[in-house]
Amino acid sequence: MSGTTRLGVNVDHVATLRQARGTKTPDPVAAAVAAELAGADMITVHLREDRRHIQDRDVRVLREVVSTRLNLEMAVTDEMLAIALQVQPDLVTLVPERREERTTEGGLDCTASDERIERVVRELKAAGIPTSLFIDADTQQVRAAQATGADMIELHTGDYALATSSKLQRRELARIRVAAANGRASGLQIAAGHGLDYRNVGEIARIGEIEELNIGHSIVGRAVLVGFDRAVREMIAAMRVGEAS
Ligand code: PXP
Repeated sequence: MSGTTRLGVNVDHVATLRQARGTKTPDPVAAAVAAELAGADMITVHLREDRRHIQDRDVRVLREVVSTRLNLEMAVTDEMLAIALQVQPDLVTLVPERREERTTEGGLDCTASDERIERVVRELKAAGIPTSLFIDADTQQVRAAQATGADMIELHTGDYALATSSKLQRRELARIRVAAANGRASGLQIAAGHGLDYRNVGEIARIGEIEELNIGHSIVGRAVLVGFDRAVREMIAAMRVGEAS
């Protein structure tokens, strides 16, 4: 599947910078447009319960402006479900959320017989919105995710990205490969993300079953130095190099 991995650009941290001053700039909507012009296949935002970066208005404006696909990351709550049903994103990614965390720290626990996940997946499906579940690369989680009726899983690449030795990194990569193969065999679409950067993205983009990557912090960080257009183009180039290797 060379050259086909799609890139979802997460623009949350453009909003983080704006919220630091409580002003109108920089605008995540402008960043989304720049990312699309540079070749992004999707724009991803996480509307957190504490609204620390993306605001409700951002999601509504993005829905009008985004011309690729809009992926709304959200916690499994009735408040977020109501927003998703109103905004109608192209994809909803359900994530666990803890207020004290700096970023999403682990995957959803789909094995905890939490009927809320199944219910939210069902209600979104009834409204024509496909759902992805952000889970750890674990066989039981993949099986449980499939049982919820979700369309897609996003495999958490945080442990791979943070691995402190090449041995640990290889082990995490192997877990991700197995989970991606299992997920695909059960009919799920496969995405991945968290902690991916210009150096470590290649090995993940090489995994044939993974169709889509969601990348935020490294792209926004690079964009501060070289601009959004170049930051997105460089990431796509790094993905293509990985796919071809
Ligand atoms: N995927 C999910 C589900 C996330 O919660 C995040 C972080 O918001 C990302 C991908 C992007 O992670 P990063 O900012 O480390 O690239």
